[in-house]
Amino acid sequence: PNMRRKLVAGNWKMNGSLAANAALLAEIKAGMAAVAVCDVALCAPAPYFAQCQAELAGSAIALGGQDVSAHAAGAYTGEIAVSMLQDFACRYVIVGHSERRAYHAETDELVAQKALRALQAGVTPIVCVGETLGEREAGQTDTVVGRQLQAVLNVLEAGQVSEIVVAYEPVWAIGTGKTATPQMAQDVHMALRAKLAEKNSAAAVEVRILYGGSMKPENAVELLAMPDIDGGLIGGAALKAADFLAIVAAAR
Ligand code: G3P
Repeated sequence: PNMRRKLVAGNWKMNGSLAANAALLAEIKAGMAAVAVCDVALCAPAPYFAQCQAELAGSAIALGGQDVSAHAAGAYTGEIAVSMLQDFACRYVIVGHSERRAYHAETDELVAQKALRALQAGVTPIVCVGETLGEREAGQTDTVVGRQLQAVLNVLEAGQVSEIVVAYEPVWAIGTGKTATPQMAQDVHMALRAKLAEKNSAAAVEVRILYGGSMKPENAVELLAMPDIDGGLIGGAALKAADFLAIVAAAR
């Protein structure tokens, strides 16, 4: 057993509406007390930050963003500054999600700048890494996720390493119903922790490494039982209160 408190974070992606969010949040809040033995966060679309902040006030559920600009402020149309996340008390922000990397051409270096921007403001970046199916089949998984994580470590001071969260999301498992087996995920998580240790061995023991990719109530217990899996980043199942709550309950 380690000292790491598990974290279950929902990533709503580009889903929701005022009405749907209200119903989902009410159900999650109502069910939380019974199950919460870990940290819980919801990463919502920015237009709903105000709604979520109000609904989550006084609950044990933290709010998070799904992306942040690498810039502080200014002429960057459509981007969201970390100061704006802070205005709504976001504690976390996802950076480098594979959908951002694939559809918005985010490079390892840009993701690193975003992580640094968040950290410097005191918002915890959830740094996503993950290989495609082709990369896995070519035996490149550790190389790819190692390179993605290394880019972030390159811009951090050693003392900042303990302040990040890492999420391993194999691209081929996202939204596909295909999950990495617990052992497959564990192997990658262990490799990621070794990479963290190269930068700061004490911090590597503290950093939470989440698994993401078709995590659901049916597989959460097994995945979360692995020694280096410290929580989950949940997509589709986070849109169903009962499923999300069941995953939270599995994180003990
Ligand atoms: O960030 C979470 C995610 O990409 C996983 O999505 O729908 O496979 O749980 P999903």
